[in-house]
Order: sequence, then structure tokens, then C-alpha cells
Amino acid sequence: MKLFGTSKVVNNELNIGGVGVQELREKFSTPLYVMDQTLLEENMAIFRDNFKSDKFKTEVIYASKAFLAVAMAQLVNRNGLSMDVVSGGELFTAIKAGFPMEKLYFHGNNKTYDELELAIDNNLGTIIVDNPLELHRLNKICADKNKKAKVLLRVNPGIDAHTHEYIQTSKFSSKFGESIFDEEIFNIIKEFLNSENVILEGFHCHVGSQIFDEKPFFGAIDVMFKFAKEVEEKTGFASKVINLGGGFGIYYSEEDNPIALQDFVTRMISDLEIKKEEYGLSVEQVNIEPGRSIVANSGTTIYTVGGVKDTFSGKKYIFVDGGMTDNIRPALYQAKYEAAILSKMNEEPDKEVTVAGKFCESGDVLIDKVKLSNPQVGDLVGITTTGAYCYSMSSNYNRFAKPAVVFVKDGKSKVIVKRETLEDLIRNDEM
Ligand code: LLP
Repeated sequence: MKLFGTSKVVNNELNIGGVGVQELREKFSTPLYVMDQTLLEENMAIFRDNFKSDKFKTEVIYASKAFLAVAMAQLVNRNGLSMDVVSGGELFTAIKAGFPMEKLYFHGNNKTYDELELAIDNNLGTIIVDNPLELHRLNKICADKNKKAKVLLRVNPGIDAHTHEYIQTSKFSSKFGESIFDEEIFNIIKEFLNSENVILEGFHCHVGSQIFDEKPFFGAIDVMFKFAKEVEEKTGFASKVINLGGGFGIYYSEEDNPIALQDFVTRMISDLEIKKEEYGLSVEQVNIEPGRSIVANSGTTIYTVGGVKDTFSGKKYIFVDGGMTDNIRPALYQAKYEAAILSKMNEEPDKEVTVAGKFCESGDVLIDKVKLSNPQVGDLVGITTTGAYCYSMSSNYNRFAKPAVVFVKDGKSKVIVKRETLEDLIRNDEM
């Protein structure tokens, strides 16, 4: 099992942020999401300190759908990043966290009237409009409230990025944005320009998620700049802002060949500077929206083994006290993870097992095949790289209470999201 950030082995036990996992279990119980705060901060710094240019402004926008809680929004702000939200719930969390509204971006292909109203009432920085209907809705809300909204139009640059089909977002058939290949787009842009209460600043695209190949990202720069040029020629509108989205691939298991972030974003900047010059664009600002690459490797989920079973077919299971409700990714995307017995870190992992959850679903398997060191009932199992899209996609299936989330740093641990209680589970039930 590959270790990241401050994770290390101390006396045969996994230690994260200077805290041993046994101590975390005793204090907070399992299953538990443990987040390495130092690594979170280091990852944010890599983007903040390297995605910058003296030819244009840059903004690194953390894609909060990967992982969001009030404390996370505050950490993002303290580390100088902007943030995007995709729902009224994420927006509300950002508001409650005191996140600066001018540094907030609002995404989504079907923002409701209420969500847009919440954004406008709170003077949210930039709304990324997905389609003309949304433009009409937003323009009306702004007119009624006598306000103006800064917006980007989400476009689909038609770039084919190789990743799981559920997380591809830029194919021609994607539900997101308007295609740049449809001539109609120029009429849509004119509508934006004629909308009195909406100020078009530029364009947004996102080519997909968990992408290892760098070509689609550089391809997107070229396609977006070419498009901005064409828009300028056909409508007279000069884009101020280009937002290239996120999607930078990270390490989950040996199958993955992650993007080397610092080097990658530095080369992205050089390419942007060259292309801006080449196309003669007056673009003033370029944004990116990393989510997973900031949080994924910072997270480790710890579970207690409650059962070991050898099936008639010879398959050996270990059962943990969580599963698909705290990590749906293996079931949904066939995502691969690494694991270890956390109190036997120096021992050879020699038993091949399937790590299964406790929920009523055969597909509730976290890892299909992994070698662990003689797993026994009561052992702690850790699965690494669970910082992104695990807590944020967690559910209450089987009326299971969601685990707590703990930040660890410099030998200290702090609960940032409390474990749900049984009472929480029936809070909204009429008695
Ligand atoms: N910007 C936009 C507009 C997005 O749609 C996304 C992700 C991001 C940024 C951040 O992408 P990242 O850097 O995190 O790859 N639930 C899936 C991932 C869905 C991603 C959706 N959009 C998973 O667990 O793999």
C-alpha cells in the first residue's frame, strides 16, 4: 500500500499526521475518514504557487464536490484558493463557512430558481451558465432584484478524454454546456451580450475527470483559445476569462500513472502564454478547477474487521464495518484501491482476500483482490486515497449513519464532521 503525505509506519502501525491509527479508533471509533491536513495544504500550495503567470491573472478554484464541509471550505480559503459549488447545499456550506463570496463559482446544468436566488442574494462571484434557459432564469432574477451577475458560458469543446464513461464530460453527447461546433452557439452568445443584467466574462470547459493523458488538457487550451478568437471575430466579444476545469488524474493503485502536478501546471502556464500571444487574445485571466488532485491522496478510511469468511468456492472475504455507503466508487466505477492491516504494516501481506462491506448488496465490495497480512477479526484495515468523492458521495443506505471525518496534523486530531447518530437518521421522519 503506497503511503502519501505525512503517513508513515511507526512501531508496525500506520501513523497519519503524527497520530497512530489505534489512537484514532479509540477516540473516534470506525469506520472513520482520516484526512491528512498537511498534505491537503501542500497540494493546494502546489497549484497556488505554480499556476501563475505575469502575462495574465490566474485563479485556482477548488472543486468542492470532491469533498466539502465547513472546515474544508475554511481551509481552502486560508490557503488562498477560490472554490466552486454545484448546488444550493454546497453554496450554503460555503456561506456558513464565511467563504468570500467573490471567490465563489457556481456550476450545474440545472440550477433551480431558488439556488440562483440564493447565489444572487449573497452576491456570489461568478455563475457558470450551462444553457440559454438558465440564462433567461438568471437574467429575470437579477432584473427583479436590480442586480447584475458575472457569468461564464459553459461550452463543450468536444475533446475525447480517456476515462470511465460516467465521468467523461466533453463528448459530443454530454449533458453539460453548449457545443462549440454548433453554429447556434454564436446566437446564444449574442443573447448573453444582449441580456442587461448578465455580464458575460468568458467561457468554461471541463474535459473529464481522473485523466492521466495530458493531451486533452493541452488540446482544450488550443480549442478554447481558437474558439475565443472565432467568437471575437463573429460577435465582437473579447473573452476576459477562460476556465479550463479540472480532472487531473491521481494515484489510486499500481494501474494508475498520475500527473506530476507541479511540472504539469508549469507547462500548462507556458502553453497558455504562448497560445495567448499566438492567437492575439486579450484574455485577462485563466482558471483551473482541481478537485480530486487536491483531496484524494489526503484521505484514508479506517475500518474494523468484523468477520472473515472462506466460501465454498475458495474465495476468502474479510468483512469491514463500512462499505458502499462510505465509498461507492468501486461499485459505481469499478474503482481500484489499496489496503493494509494497519497494525501489521511491517509484515508481508500474504493472504489474498476480498474486502467486502456490511450492506445488503452483493456489489458491496471495496476491493476485489488484495493481499493483506493475516487479517483477523478486530484488526484495523485502512484504504488509502479516499479523500475525494467518498464522503461527498456517501449515503444512508440500510439506514447506516455516516462516519465522522477527522483532520490530523502535527500529532493532533480534530473532528470536522461528527459521526451521525441513530437520532440523526430519523430526524425528518414523521412520528
Ligand atoms: N470542474 C467541473 C466543471 C467538474 O465537473 C469537475 C468534476 C471538476 C471541476 C473537478 O474534477 P476533478 O479535478 O475532481 O477530477 N464522482 C466521480 C467524479 C465526478 C467528477 C465530476 N466533475 C468520481 O468519483 O470519480
